Amino acid sequence: MDRKIESILDALSVAVFIVDANQTIVYRNSASVSLFGTGIRTKKLAHFVPNKRCIRAVEDVLDGQDRESVDVRLQLVVPTSFRMTVVPLNTDGNRSDASAVVSFEDVSHILEAEQMRTDFVANVSHELRSPLTALYGFIETLQGPARTDKQASDRFLGLMEKEAARMARLIDDLLSLSKLQSGERYAPTEKVAINPIVERVVASLAPILDKEQASVVTDLSADLPDVFGNVDELTQVFSNLIENAAKYARVGATVFVSSAIDDKEPDMVRITVVDQGEGIAPEHIARLTERFYRIDKGRSRDKGGTGLGLAIVKHILMRHRGRLQIDSVVGQGSTFSVVLPRAL
Ligand SMILES: Nc1ncnc2c1ncn2[C@@H]1O[C@H](COP(=O)(O)OP(=O)(O)OP(=O)(O)O)[C@@H](O)[C@H]1O
Ligand SMILES: [Mg+2]
Repeated sequence: MDRKIESILDALSVAVFIVDANQTIVYRNSASVSLFGTGIRTKKLAHFVPNKRCIRAVEDVLDGQDRESVDVRLQLVVPTSFRMTVVPLNTDGNRSDASAVVSFEDVSHILEAEQMRTDFVANVSHELRSPLTALYGFIETLQGPARTDKQASDRFLGLMEKEAARMARLIDDLLSLSKLQSGERYAPTEKVAINPIVERVVASLAPILDKEQASVVTDLSADLPDVFGNVDELTQVFSNLIENAAKYARVGATVFVSSAIDDKEPDMVRITVVDQGEGIAPEHIARLTERFYRIDKGRSRDKGGTGLGLAIVKHILMRHRGRLQIDSVVGQGSTFSVVLPRAL
């Protein structure tokens, strides 16, 4: 084959094979070697692509078909989804001279993104539908049995307000996530002091802390360096972490919040939120920052949670070029650490 054409084919990320009339490989590009391996002893396409539909499609093209496409999942090192396309290369002449180009485009990431989008839409609809269903229920009761019962209607109106507030929060959280994701490439450039933010958050959480009978003890380093950050976003981070610590801790527990220069990485600032709650098992820890992931759905919902809090925290910290670290011992409590690069 022409050197130039070979170089062009080697530059592609799509795997390309050329096969003769017997489906013996007469050429393959670099991407096909990195995806399917070398297979030194064999020259048959079926060895690399042990899939009947694919082999039949190649056969059809060698028999004179125009073009064939097959979507297929192949077990390579990891299961990988491909769009295979076969086009005839040598059409004039007889069957024994026929040849075809067979290409494999890895479409796994497209399918994964599509699956995530579908799951997300399903989750959002479900989360929005549940307060709405509750609202419909209360409306029906108010129109019917509770029509003349002042006490019951007051109670139902209170519950309706709670459900409506939950829906509003869900929408706010979703909007804030989508805004964060679109701005993730741009790190904040303003210098901000962390301690006052933490102090304000603790003060503003007083009603929730009261309700959960939790108290907060702070130990904030007096000479903490500033970080490059956005005050509103960092407020959201500490607000969610401290609120979680209070909500998911034992009644009457204490939440410890501290800030200091990181022991191991002196160019980072570390803020930790430590609770004495029930702790989180390792299999949950890995998934906590997924949107809508809650260990105990019913419980979190009772507490007005949407399950978006930690997803928002993660995205804010990513934009700040920082990270969230979660350590926990079941039965003893959890430590959520925010690590942020200090402003120079
Ligand atoms: N300190 C903690 N101790 C134990 N479990 C926790 C802790 N923090 C979070 N979790 C678990 O992680 C889940 C996800 O937390 P996240 O903040 O994302 O959502 P939420 O608190 O349920 O809702 P929202 O933050 O929107 O109010 C919670 O539902 C809870 O199950
Ligand atoms: Mg939360």
